Amino acid sequence: MSNFHKVVLAYSGGVDTSACIPYLQNEYGVKDVIAFAADLGQGDELEHIRQKALQAGASESIVIDLIEPFVSDYAFPAIKANALYEGKYPLSTALARPLIANRLVQIANDLNADAVAHGCTGKGNDQVRFDLAIASLAPELPILTPARQWSMSREELIVYGEKFGIPAPVSKKSPYSIDVNLLGRSIEAGPLEDLYQAPSEDVYQMTSSIDNSPEKAQDLEIEFQAGIPISIDGLQLDPVSLIKKVNSIAGNFGFGRIDMIENRVVGIKSREIYEAPGLMLLIKCHQELESLTLSGDVLRTKGNLERQWADLVYQGFWFSPLKKALDAFIDETQKDVNGVIKVRLYKGNLIIQGRKSSINSLYSSDISTYGSNDKFDHTSAEGFIYIWGLANRIWASVTRKKNI
Ligand code: ARG
Repeated sequence: MSNFHKVVLAYSGGVDTSACIPYLQNEYGVKDVIAFAADLGQGDELEHIRQKALQAGASESIVIDLIEPFVSDYAFPAIKANALYEGKYPLSTALARPLIANRLVQIANDLNADAVAHGCTGKGNDQVRFDLAIASLAPELPILTPARQWSMSREELIVYGEKFGIPAPVSKKSPYSIDVNLLGRSIEAGPLEDLYQAPSEDVYQMTSSIDNSPEKAQDLEIEFQAGIPISIDGLQLDPVSLIKKVNSIAGNFGFGRIDMIENRVVGIKSREIYEAPGLMLLIKCHQELESLTLSGDVLRTKGNLERQWADLVYQGFWFSPLKKALDAFIDETQKDVNGVIKVRLYKGNLIIQGRKSSINSLYSSDISTYGSNDKFDHTSAEGFIYIWGLANRIWASVTRKKNI
């Protein structure tokens, strides 16, 4: 028994977080459990989720639409950072956690709660992200984590839940563990644990199979302003509509599927399947535009920092001094990332077709050209190369003398 009276729980509507409600009341002695669910575009019936928490015994149940800030304040910075964890995963699940934690802490403050809670288990990354984000936002706020304490199997959990009015999952139990939001889906467990076995089609929902994707390619033009996507084929869209539109177009062509073995924070290797069609397309286009508009040295330095940015976000350090400093660097570079990328989608592939930037292109035709209007001074290359290779030339002659 603890002496917490009022606790705000990060609630998803699933069996685990539902069971947290009676568990917090009965095992921790919490009087008021306030459930908070975030709408991140996961497509669930939110009123149903709200009711479910009340049915499980929550004294209050709050659902907040966070789709807009999720895209503008989390997905867009990730696009600016070309963020791909271990070079592959666009962080679609990871990005949601600091946003949920942020609101959780805010609600706890507003309602004068004496703790917050989440339903993550002890094996995953999400517990790390919640715990670290909450600790950075409210260092003194206690965090209760029933799912790290109870040692119930899924079956036992369902039985436990039923005792407290939490209905067992009605649909035939999916063999997968799935996390969904507007940016993508993360799927693990079940048959995916056979690493040599290709995922079956029932894993996917946002992307078509190659077989079902259109026979005819489609070209798209994406315009960026200061590193942020603003229009598709000349049509300006607000951030949320833009992501929805690219999701549906790229998903239809079967683009944005990822099958990887990743390294979790807690040291476990796991196999994850992701589908994040829109986010992957936007990152690829953004990278391409940067190659035209940023200088070589900035690109190389940014490339190193991008890896670090993705690691920080994956590992739970969204709110941290290093992440903040990296954001400042990235934002400075993005002032020059203005222009349009033309891509072709075809059978799971994204093929860059063209790029242009009327104000920031660093491509200088009269210097780069092989044509007769070439302005490059070929003779000056000689002196440049002499000095560029001088140290090497000295080394070579000294080594040669030694060897004879
Ligand atoms: N491995 C991913 C991450 O850490 C996704 C985890 C989400 N959960 C799931 N049930 N697949 O961000």
